[in-house]
This record gives sequence, structure tokens and C-alpha cells, in this order.
Amino acid sequence: MNSQEIEKMAHKMSWQKFVAMEEKEKIIFLNNLHTGNPFHVLFAQQFNRENLDLLCQIAEIARAINKNKQEGVKFLRKLLSGTHALNFFYQPSSRTFLSFETAQETLGMSIRDIRDPSVSSEAKGETLEDSIRTFSSYVDLIIMRYPEKQAVEKGAWVLNKSDRRIPIINAGSGKDQHPTQALTDIYTLHKSFNGEIDGRTIVMCGDLKRGRTVRSLSYLMKNYHDMKLIFVSPSHLRMKKDIKDFLTSHNITYLEEDNLEEIIPLADAIYMTRIQDEWDEKNDQTKKIPKPVDPKYKFKKEYLELMKKDAVLMHPLPKRDEIDEEVGYFRDKRVVFWRQPRNGVWIRVALIALIFQKQQTILDYTHWPKKWREGG
Ligand code: CP
Repeated sequence: MNSQEIEKMAHKMSWQKFVAMEEKEKIIFLNNLHTGNPFHVLFAQQFNRENLDLLCQIAEIARAINKNKQEGVKFLRKLLSGTHALNFFYQPSSRTFLSFETAQETLGMSIRDIRDPSVSSEAKGETLEDSIRTFSSYVDLIIMRYPEKQAVEKGAWVLNKSDRRIPIINAGSGKDQHPTQALTDIYTLHKSFNGEIDGRTIVMCGDLKRGRTVRSLSYLMKNYHDMKLIFVSPSHLRMKKDIKDFLTSHNITYLEEDNLEEIIPLADAIYMTRIQDEWDEKNDQTKKIPKPVDPKYKFKKEYLELMKKDAVLMHPLPKRDEIDEEVGYFRDKRVVFWRQPRNGVWIRVALIALIFQKQQTILDYTHWPKKWREGG
């Protein structure tokens, strides 16, 4: 099918037909038809090695440009000046919301947000589809975290049918994936290992059943060679079969283990996660005091002694007690979870630049004669 045929098909497609497709079948309706890079960003499977390496490269260069507080900051702010972004977050978020906002401001976008359902016309019975179409009249990009499953997919589907096909990004919505956290994690690994991610052993520990970030990061592993994943979790929170089947079909080795302490010396990266008890069926939301984590799945400060000298300790955050609190205050360069939020800004700058096809302008920046750069 050529790009016009795909566009026509997307325009006509019913929601029932779209939603029934497998994720891999949906990708042609989400990616940029000319470049093949993600346009709507819903799933980690939309990314390939080429665009992951490119995103890390853009993030690094944009970050370096921004260090020049005069011309560099001005240059980045001109890239998307005159465009508008909407951060549409109906679920709690600190990092994803603020990092997108910072990324958008860095690129010169003007920013709107809706965080409270009671102030949107959905409170008057407007459908989500109509709300999204309305938002697209005012902005050029929508970032969305919403409680209902497949809500961002519905957004992408409705925008594909509309005359104003603006991009929409899944910001870790409901029980769906969290692709931009997975990009943040890849960028953190890329920086930690000087760009050499292939062949690494990654331990993921905690709530692997419901954690959006570990699921999305597992999908991205298909883009790297000889990766080994070791899943450590309580038996009722094991990684689900769909991810394990995906890993098997891509010849990625994975093991399921129960003893974090024993596994630590083998790891290049230890990725801790919080128990997501907000999804417990019998969860009493009025009780705000979380249960302490089972000590078997807690990273204790003495475990730093067991880590390889160049391994890293990661966490997508927010965290609770699954890492000894003192660990976050040690000046140990292997503890990188406080660097991840900052990396999250720059990989989101890179992603937005890629979606708006500004990547080459960023990559070419250093080749510009200084007088042009100063003159803008
Ligand atoms: N990592 C992450 O998604 O954090 P927030 O929920 O605070 O956005």
C-alpha cells in the first residue's frame, strides 16, 4: 500500500476494526507515512534501532546546544516557536507532565494543560472523541494520560479520521504502555554505557505484572543484540505471558528469579519498580498508607557492594520503600535514578523534534558558521 492508500484506509476505518488489530498491525497507521518514524506515539514497538540511536543522538546534541545560554537556548526556542502543545493529564503525574512541559518550552512551543476532568466539557457529557477533535483545533500536539484503557489509541484513531491530523503521545496512560519512560530509560542506559547497550544483562524487580514502564522497556529490547533480562518479583506480580512470548519470538533470553540479592552481581542494570497497589481490586483509596514492600524485593544499601563497578541502579520513579532511602543520597555514580528525570526532558525534546521533523536542523547546528548562529 502507498501512503495515500494508507491515509484513505485510516480515514474510513471504524474504531471496532482499529482496536481489534494487533499492535504490530496498527503501526502503519501511527507512524509518519513518509519517514517511517513514529508520529502518534502509542507503543514501544513503534521504535527501531535506527530511530532509537537517532533520538539519543538528538538528545545529546540538543542538551549540548542548550548549555550555551545565549545563542543555543535561543536557537532551540525558535525551532517550534508559533506551535502549541496540550498536556492532557487526567491521572496523577509529576515527572512525565513536567518533563514534557520543559521539553515543549525548550523548543519554543506555547503550552496549555487540562488536568482536572471537572473543568472540561467531558463533565457535560461530551465524548472523548469530540473532546480530542476540539483540542486539535487549538493545538499542534497532544500529550495524554487518561484513566481508561486504550483512550490514547482512540485519540490517534479519531485524529487519523479528522482533517487536522496532529500527533498524540501516550504519556503512560491507564493500564497501557509508557513508551516515553522507556525512551528515557534507553537514553539513560545509552549514557551510562557510552552508547553500548548490546549484550547487557538487565534485572527488573518489583511489580512486573502491572508496571507500564517495565513492559514498554522489555519491548524495546528487541532492538538490541544479545540482551538478557532477569525478572525478579513476587509470584503474583510476575511479568505477563504476552511480554514473555514477545521476548521468546525475538530470541531474547529471560529468566525469572526470586532472590534479588543473588542476582545483583550478574546485572549491568538493576531496574527497581514500585508495587502498583492503586490497581488492586480491593484497594481502599481512602487508606493512603502503602504496605511496606516484602524485604526480598527491596534494594538494600549493602547491595551496592555486590554491584559490578560499572553497573547502574535505575527506577522510573515515583518510588516508595523498595530502595533503602539512604541509597539516593550516596554519591555513587552507579545510582542513576535521580538522573533519569533530567534525561527524560532531553529524550522528549528529541522525540518532539523528530515528530516535527526538526532533527536535521538540530544535528546540523554545529556546522553552521558562528555569524549565522548569532544572527539566527
Ligand atoms: N515515571 C513517571 O511516569 O512518573 P510520573 O507518574 O510522576 O509522571
